[in-house]
Amino acid sequence: MSRVTKLAPVEGAYNISKDLPNRENFDWTIITKHFSWTHTQKINMAYECVDRHVEEGFGDKVALHYIDDNLESQLTYSQLKDETDQWAKVLKKHGVTKGDFVFVFLPKHPSCHIAMLAAIKLGAIVGPLFEAFMEDAVRDRIQDCEGTFLITNKEFLPRIPRKDLPSLSTIFITDEATEDDTISISEEVKQIENLESVIEWVDFNHGLNIHYTSGSTGKPKGIIHTHRAMIQQYVTGRWVLDLKETDVYWCTAHPGWVTGTVYGVFSPLLNRATIVIHGGRFQAEKWFETIEKAKISVWYSAPTAFRMLMSKSDQVIEKYDLSALRHVLSVGEPLNPEVIYWGLEKLQLRIHDTWWMTETGAQLIVNLPTDTIKPGSMGKPLPFIKVEILDDQGFPVTQGQIGHLAIKASWPSLMREVWKNEEKYQSYFPFGKQWYVSGDLALRDEEGYVYFQGRSDDMINSSGERIGPFEVESKLIEHRAVAEAAVIGKPDAIRGEIVKAFIVLNPGFQENSNLLEEIRLFVRSQLSAHAAPREIEVIEELPKTKISGKILRRELKALESKRSSSAPVY
Ligand code: WTA
Repeated sequence: MSRVTKLAPVEGAYNISKDLPNRENFDWTIITKHFSWTHTQKINMAYECVDRHVEEGFGDKVALHYIDDNLESQLTYSQLKDETDQWAKVLKKHGVTKGDFVFVFLPKHPSCHIAMLAAIKLGAIVGPLFEAFMEDAVRDRIQDCEGTFLITNKEFLPRIPRKDLPSLSTIFITDEATEDDTISISEEVKQIENLESVIEWVDFNHGLNIHYTSGSTGKPKGIIHTHRAMIQQYVTGRWVLDLKETDVYWCTAHPGWVTGTVYGVFSPLLNRATIVIHGGRFQAEKWFETIEKAKISVWYSAPTAFRMLMSKSDQVIEKYDLSALRHVLSVGEPLNPEVIYWGLEKLQLRIHDTWWMTETGAQLIVNLPTDTIKPGSMGKPLPFIKVEILDDQGFPVTQGQIGHLAIKASWPSLMREVWKNEEKYQSYFPFGKQWYVSGDLALRDEEGYVYFQGRSDDMINSSGERIGPFEVESKLIEHRAVAEAAVIGKPDAIRGEIVKAFIVLNPGFQENSNLLEEIRLFVRSQLSAHAAPREIEVIEELPKTKISGKILRRELKALESKRSSSAPVY
């Protein structure tokens, strides 16, 4: 495959060309006229995602199509409406009201979608938790916003440290029988008789969801989004994902990550798409099989997954019929050109990179289906988004130079606040209110294409999952053998970065592979699998600043990239 530097758009009837023949003529009413609240003034995300489609006569369309190793099931929009109404009634009966935090800790499964939408119907703020979280990760998040309600299942229950969570008054489980003092939703729905709607109308600024996300310092921070985000989440589904009536759509992320919530639940439902949910962990053959079986036409995934699929031999991919695919997109980490060339060769499709963050609430920089793709670039800002590359003083750099990737504020899906942390919220606006500064470094070419150049802080991005070094370091030093720890992202060909820990041992402990494995498992079993260091290296002393004694992770990162051979792997 020749390495062309520009991939022209393929001719097609794309939503964006119909809506916006002229990029300059952008007017929000092109988008807002879609929503029922433009004539009713009644606002609720869950209503726009589900109920309105039923009221408009699309109740029989498949909303959720679930597939795992043993099972396949479907739920129409009308069944999804009934289920979410009934679950909402159970939640309401047990005290959930407008503004409450309702955490959802469930696997990739329709029950996770139903739980989230039911809570939103009541005007609650939903907090989806990643399915691989262990006790500490669950505790930190629920404790931070004093969450009162949790929806989970029997299998995940042992990972809820209830004695440390006095605010958590009620736990619902999705299984039939109850456990301890939990409430079984499936049992309780059998007693529901009243079928009237339970929707609470809210205003645009009302809290919708909370996602905890990592930076380079401190514990994860709670990012709050509002119902207003639906405007941008709808339009990006329409223009960027290009969702149409006939599409079968698969977003591979779990709703515990912002992509899994925004583009796995809200955006496709707002666009009345059929969503595929694949249960279970990544496995190349299973993923290809899912595309074939469900006839997936639009697929949103991440570079690590594409690289893992690429590493399979040609014979594997050739076993499957992937011909239903028509539009493929990527997010979460740098999309290297090799992946795009692989897509062209094996799928005969361009892979469209998209850039955004938990804090931005929806895609901002994208490759639209109608744009030329320049492999290596994340694309261009959406028509209503203005991007600038700023120097350390907040002035635009000259074209082609690296600087801070900043977005002109505001846009509909920008976070409302960082929960109980105004200082952190303000830190995204270091040069005044007009520029949101992302923490990413980037450059821009003469045609306005944006190229990712790394982070300006120590945040780690492994397989597209955002990991804060502080959270991992804090866990490491809880181990009796560890005196000090510094955690960095080490470049990795498949995962983008892997979590690498440098540790100083306490006196009396000798380095050996059993001890290092014990330390790794300690983090894995208490925090989560994705945050556990894949490499641990013992050193005599950590590099620190002379005055404040702060750990210099950058020096360790520089040391790591200088090494030609890698450190021992555990
Ligand atoms: C990184 C995920 C390169 C970036 C939606 C950002 C990317 C962080 C891309 C946000 C991309 C996201 N190319 N890097 N296309 N998309 N990132 O909050 O560093 O989990 O700041 O949101 O992922 O991660 P988050």
